[in-house]
This record gives sequence, C-alpha cells and structure tokens, in this order.
Amino acid sequence: MIDEVKERALSELSLINDAKELEAWRVRYLGRKGEVSKIMKMLPNLPVDERREVGRKANELKEILEEKFEEKRREIRKPKFEPIDITLPGRPPLLGRLHPTTKILREICEVFASMGFEIVEGPEVEWDYYNFEALNIPEDHPARDMWSTLWIDYEDPSGKTPMLLRTHTSPMQIRVMEKRKPPIRVIMPGKVYRYEATDATHESMFYQVEGLAVDEGITMADLKGTLYEFSRRLFGKERRVKFRCDYFPFVEPGVEVAIDCFICRGEGCRLCGGSGWIEILGAGMVHPEVLRRVGYDPEVYTGFAFGMGIERIPMLRYGIDDIRLFYSNDIRFLRQMR
Ligand code: DAH
Repeated sequence: MIDEVKERALSELSLINDAKELEAWRVRYLGRKGEVSKIMKMLPNLPVDERREVGRKANELKEILEEKFEEKRREIRKPKFEPIDITLPGRPPLLGRLHPTTKILREICEVFASMGFEIVEGPEVEWDYYNFEALNIPEDHPARDMWSTLWIDYEDPSGKTPMLLRTHTSPMQIRVMEKRKPPIRVIMPGKVYRYEATDATHESMFYQVEGLAVDEGITMADLKGTLYEFSRRLFGKERRVKFRCDYFPFVEPGVEVAIDCFICRGEGCRLCGGSGWIEILGAGMVHPEVLRRVGYDPEVYTGFAFGMGIERIPMLRYGIDDIRLFYSNDIRFLRQMR
C-alpha cells in the first residue's frame, strides 16, 4: 500500500507546474489529514512485528515526498525568462589603455621598421656566454661590474655556462648573428634585469631596445645616419645629435649618443641638468672579436650596434620623475596615458 501511495504521489507531482496545484498536492499527501498521516495513524493497530517494518517505510515515504515537494517548489519559483528592459542604456565597457612602456616600444619599433629593421625577441633567462663571454667580456674582467647581475642557481647537465637574468639586450646580437648570415638589420626589444637597489632612476627590471646591422662596408656614418634619423623622428625634427667617446667591451669605437635638450634647446635647464644635452643611448661599431666569435670574418664584415633604455624616453618627454611608477601598478599613473 505504501508503495502504491508513493507511486501515485510522485506521478501526480510530476505533472504539476503551478504553486496552487502544488499546495493542493501537499495537503493531499503531507497534510494533517493526508495520506502519510493516515498511514501513521494505522500503525498502532498493526501487530507488533509488522509495525516496525511498516513504520520504517512510512517514514521513508514521508522524507521522499517532502524532499520532492521542496524540489518542485524551487523549480516553480524560478522565473522562466528574465524580462529585459530594452530602454535601459547599456553599461559602458571598461576601456583599457596601453601601458606607457608598450606605447613607446611600439613607437620605437615603428621608426626602425620603416628604416628596414626587423624586430626579433629572445630569452630573458640567459647564459653567461651570451650576456658576457661572447660580447667580449671574459670572466673576472672588471667590465662585468658595469652590470650588477642576478644569477640563477641552476647547473646545466650539459655543463653549459652559468645562468642569469640578462642584464641587457646585447646578448641578442650574438643569438641573431649565430643563426643568420649578413646582411643583418634587426632591433631587439625586451626586459632586462639588474641586481640593484631601486630608487627614482633605478629599477631592477626595465626595458631596452638593442639594434644591430652587419654587412659588407657598413661604417660609422651608417650608425650616425640611422641614430640621427631616429632621434629626429622620436624627439622632433629640429633635434641635434652628439656623439661622444665611451667604452663598451663589445664595440670599438664605442660612443654615447646625446640629443640637444628639447626643453631648453641646449641652453641648460633642469631636465638636462644644465648641460644642454640629454644622453639617450650607447652605441658603436661591432668589435672584431665579437664578429670572430660568431664565425664572421671581420676583414669582410663590419657592423654597428646600439642599445637604449626605454623608460627614460617617456620620463624625459612627460617629465616623469620616478621610474618606479612604471611598474608599481598605480592606476592613477597608468590612466594618464592615451
Ligand atoms: N648593453 C649596453 C648597456 O646595457 C648598452 C649598449 C651600449 C648596447 C653600446 C650596444 C652598444 O649595442 O653598442 O649598458
């Protein structure tokens, strides 16, 4: 009999789809005078041995029906569709902006791309060999002090040289020359790392762009022409450019390139520290030793290379006085760039 009640109750319930009918069903089965109650009331009249078994089944029935009832109630309550008010104005989507570094990187790449340079990227985790050794900076050479290095605690099973976070993008010069034959004209943007205390002008991570051109007959005039054009495109047509001797182990001669200050136009102001000139990059003619390392004959091929820090450019342009602002995720700073 209990099974029969259960079957009937559940099949009736399955057809119900409004609250009124559901309530009637509840009264019929679970109400005070409902089917379940009736069964419960019969119990005392049963012989003791049957009473136990029937009582257990009756309780089970009650639980199942209550559970199914709740389920149905929830189902009925759920709206069948969400009404849409088509007159409501839409929610404006949150528009992101490009990070200042991304913007300037794209700008720089565009200038060089228009001069025929190809853009190449490479690893930030680098071997000592590419970061130093192949760039004519042997182990224990004092020139290594120019780059405070973050070493990586890793022993390569092949016995390769120590691992580090690249301190400049110059190792990409070697990687590109190893893989290709001249003529080469590439720029190589990316992150670099330094083991340094941070302050307004130092970050432990920042961006550089490296440039390299190798071919027969490339001279310092090509380097000057290229960087002159670059400076004018980035900092204004009337810019003047100054080359001064500098030392970098992987170039000979090495130079430091400065532009005349675009605020005071050379008279001396706060931006240029009173000198009238702003240093923007290091450059030079690729050292014969570097060419030899990658199997190029320095009697046949010559080349120029340059490398510059990226954050410095928007800092100069927009008068940003703290490099740490770039990577501290302060939305008030990032929002200002269009
Ligand atoms: N790699 C140098 C640095 O981080 C910058 C540099 C100087 C790159 C001269 C060059 C170069 O390619 O020719 O300090």
